[in-house]
Amino acid sequence: MAVSYELIGETGVITIDNPPVNALSHVVREGVKNAVIAAQSDSSKSVVILCSGRTFIAGADISEFGKPAIPPSLPQVLSVIESSEKPVIAALHGSALGGGFELALACHYRCASSPAKVGLPEVKLGLLPGAGGTQRVPRLAGVEAALDLITSGKPISTDKANKLGLVDRIITGDLREGALEYAQEVVLGDVELRKARNISISPKEVPEGIFEFYKIKLGKRARGQLAPQSIVTCIQAAVELPMDEGLNKERELFLECLDSEQSAALRHMFFAERTAPKIKGLAEGIEPRAISRVAIIGGGTMGCGIAMCFANAGIPVTLLEISADALGRGLQIIDRNYDLSVKKGVFSSEDGILKKGFITGTTQYEDLSDCDLVIEAVFESFEVKKEVFSRLDKVCKPEAILATNTSYLDVNAIAEITSRPENVVGLHFFSPANIMKLLEVVRGEKTSDEVLATAMDIAKKIRKVPVLAGVCFGFIGNRMLRQYVRETQLCLIEGASPEQIDQVMEGWGMAMGPLAVGDLSGLDVAYKARQSLSDQEKGDPKTYCIADALVEKGRLGQKVGKGYYLYVANNRGRTSDPEVLEIINGQALKHGVVRREISDGEILMRLTLALINEGFKILEEGIAQRPSDIDAVYVFGYGFPAFRGGPMFYADQLGLKKVYEMICKLQETNGYQYWVPANLLEELAHSNKTLAEWADS
Ligand code: 3HC
Ligand code: NAI
Repeated sequence: MAVSYELIGETGVITIDNPPVNALSHVVREGVKNAVIAAQSDSSKSVVILCSGRTFIAGADISEFGKPAIPPSLPQVLSVIESSEKPVIAALHGSALGGGFELALACHYRCASSPAKVGLPEVKLGLLPGAGGTQRVPRLAGVEAALDLITSGKPISTDKANKLGLVDRIITGDLREGALEYAQEVVLGDVELRKARNISISPKEVPEGIFEFYKIKLGKRARGQLAPQSIVTCIQAAVELPMDEGLNKERELFLECLDSEQSAALRHMFFAERTAPKIKGLAEGIEPRAISRVAIIGGGTMGCGIAMCFANAGIPVTLLEISADALGRGLQIIDRNYDLSVKKGVFSSEDGILKKGFITGTTQYEDLSDCDLVIEAVFESFEVKKEVFSRLDKVCKPEAILATNTSYLDVNAIAEITSRPENVVGLHFFSPANIMKLLEVVRGEKTSDEVLATAMDIAKKIRKVPVLAGVCFGFIGNRMLRQYVRETQLCLIEGASPEQIDQVMEGWGMAMGPLAVGDLSGLDVAYKARQSLSDQEKGDPKTYCIADALVEKGRLGQKVGKGYYLYVANNRGRTSDPEVLEIINGQALKHGVVRREISDGEILMRLTLALINEGFKILEEGIAQRPSDIDAVYVFGYGFPAFRGGPMFYADQLGLKKVYEMICKLQETNGYQYWVPANLLEELAHSNKTLAEWADS
């Protein structure tokens, strides 16, 4: 039974038990409505609503969105609760989120255990609270608190909610007992039921211009997104309209958001994130190994960030460097990063010191003998990695997992350096490693199921989104990125400017345009990698000639103050530099390219199709398990806009037939081999199937 009702003394107790998170599925909505109706005619004097399991209701059942709605709707259920003649008290534990918190707000009283959380995270799904949240929160907590809570989507502690007037009572002992006592108190106390709808907000108390201010602020922070703007409109309606009209406005805008492509994309990402760690075909009964001590080899850009990920999760880490000097530099980087986090308010200074305390340094391999997991992050050179893995294999206990953070090298070849290829795996972090959520878990030919399960498990403990990838050059993310960068370079030489390309992609939602990204990571890195390629591997010499010319002129990117743009010291902003256009024109002349005007639409199409076509190849080769994994890689590792759902979801939105035709057209126009449409794309386009349907089958 998802919902049960019992009489305990004079209190009717409704218990919701709908694992895993008590989402408001149809059975729950119907069960709660019926139980509240039943309570009206029995001997109860009050009604308590509580939940079994690890949490109060975590919101509407997201998997029901996009399907035909089955009554009763949540607003109908809440209306029954609110109009109960007996006081209804919600008892919260775990997380009361979205529709779950709205249900509590429609009750006459709310008590909660501490610590617990409440929040309205709908905006993260491209939605707004659709069951009175935008009308009741401003009435109970004020307009400003409502704007912050609902437009950020961030949960707050029940203690804070109590201070804001959103929760009436904090229960320190057993929640059920405390809620029953509170219910009796309520029955003896208030004569009139407390309903948020009876509170009106005086327009005089609302700061002047606050709604315009939030709309402008959100327009910048959540560029192009519908839900944040609609939330502000609804909260404004709570001030200007009577409750029922405000509720109608909220419903109208909620349904508009629910129907939007943006919400479909964000809902897709909600499930993509949670599906990615699941490994298909894993042998039954596999349990992850315990990881209680970790070592990182190499304290450079990546090693330091990776060490922080484990320290932040309270797992002791040993950082090994090649010399005392190098170790000192690494530990200094870590110190600086923690100080910066403290300055930014991410941690308190005590917390910063505590976390830093989990990291120790060494130059001796023998100190790693009791580590359960070692992650190598030394230079991207097979020879250097070979030496490291041979030494690790000798000193580490046989069951220790040896992982490599390589970006491009062959994980199978690395595994074969050791006597334990089954315990070798790729753990590919993204820079800055302590911030970026993506972790590609690269499965070698011989990597055991237990090692993969452990990698997925530890990834979640360090708060990453792990995605399984097979071995190939660049795995999922960087393999697709090569195509995107290639097309960027071709657009440049054919006629676009760096400013135009970056503005198009950023305007579309990418966190940063491709040329600004190049400047940030340093143009010399890819330059060096290209120098090691044969002419055949390099392909058409005009493709990277502009990037090469910039490096050869000392324009290495942000670190030297100039790349595709100019950077003024201490100011991370970029400005245009006429010299770059001269370089581009010079290279075009040298390679016989007549530059032309390229439209914004063409840039967007070529860059996104380059990602999509490679994504299809990755799927048909089995390098990625499912299309949504590729989306997770791009959204959590490459700044792809979540509200567009990742490149593969976007392909489905465009329609695969259209995608296929556009790629064929590009192939026809320029004849390049890389515009050969992927077989899987061709097949789905011909059979009129979507990628989502292909993945389900
Ligand atoms: N609907 C359907 N399934 C849900 C769900 C929901 N609201 N919330 C979580 N789940 C599922 C997850 O998909 C996952 O399923 P799986 O095990 O099959 O992969 C399982 O529940 C556990 O979820 P998590 O892995 O996220 O568990 P955590 O313990 O890490 O986190 C949580 C728990 C904090 C509750 C987190 O799940 C969460 O934030 N949930 C979403 C909350 C949310 O967005 N609510 C708003 C919904 S929209 C709404 O309410 C509209 C309303 O205004 C009308
Ligand atoms: P880096 O040059 O910043 O750091 C490498 C560190 O390894 C240096 O501090 C060096 O002293 C140390 N080192 C070299 N040989 C060693 C040895 N034998 N024993 C111990 N330490 C040794 O390099 P970065 O950028 O941190 O890259 C490391 C690895 O991570 C590479 O394989 C790279 O491809 C990969 N990677 C890099 C990303 C990036 O954005 N920089 C992103 C993802 C992966």
